[in-house]
Amino acid sequence: MYFSLQVVGVTNNTGRKRDVAASFSDATDGYLEGNVLKQGADLEQLVNWCSDATCALDVATGAGHVAGSLADAGVSRVVASDLSPAMVRTATDEYRGLEGVAVDAERLPFSADQFDAVTCRFAAHHFPDPEAFLAEVERVLEPGGMFAFEDLCVPADPELAAYVNRIERLRDSGHVETYSRGQWLDWLDATGLTVETVHETSRELEVDAWLNRMAVPEEDRQRIRSLLSDAPADLETAFEFQYEADGDRLASYQTGVVLLHVTA
Ligand SMILES: C[S@@+](CC[C@H](N)C(=O)[O-])C[C@H]1O[C@@H](n2cnc3c(N)ncnc32)[C@H](O)[C@@H]1O
Repeated sequence: MYFSLQVVGVTNNTGRKRDVAASFSDATDGYLEGNVLKQGADLEQLVNWCSDATCALDVATGAGHVAGSLADAGVSRVVASDLSPAMVRTATDEYRGLEGVAVDAERLPFSADQFDAVTCRFAAHHFPDPEAFLAEVERVLEPGGMFAFEDLCVPADPELAAYVNRIERLRDSGHVETYSRGQWLDWLDATGLTVETVHETSRELEVDAWLNRMAVPEEDRQRIRSLLSDAPADLETAFEFQYEADGDRLASYQTGVVLLHVTA
């Protein structure tokens, strides 16, 4: 295992990235134990797309659920990388045989064509420069390599998208922006990568558990709850709001998710 306690090579938004790394370093337990990320058909799908790989890089690994699943699926070398050294340590402690490194997704310290698979799940909404991230993915992937990507996605309507992002930023100051499926496809179109499969789906999000994972202070919880109560009707429909049986308190909703299978 190689491991760096300093984050390697951050070149832009250094203050913001330092804050993001610190806030995730305080949240390792929630990301390790939370069932939302630990399992799911989406995780199986990403791993299936990369099952022939021999040398994979998981970007923004969090508690290592994708990296660990790749190793379990027989990928012989798996590098678990994250901006937060504490997350990298959590991943490598939890899953045997992973290599771990603390790095910025937008500046990967690897040579060209080094991996035959790159994965990134539920993290790109934290990246200030998603196009720089995609350029790095393209650079480190060997020709024919796989990129299996998943992130939250917002409706195409800019007003609904802005509303969702406002809520997300209140919950997590490191949230930069959740993009629409179309935005990801436009960015990918400008690279030399080829999109093979697009799945737009949704994922149930239990509001209290989601707030607890980032230890959101009470005042911000109340503001988020108010925004959810006042959400535009189109968002309530699109995200299938579910209320608690005995009142109008929101229990859960289906947040938008996009999965992309891309080849180099
Ligand atoms: C929700 S967690 C990732 C979950 C994980 N991929 C999974 O499937 O279980 C988001 C992760 O993104 C990482 N992150 C945020 N900005 C990053 C960046 N610029 N480069 C690398 N990792 C970053 C955070 O430290 C955090 O561990």
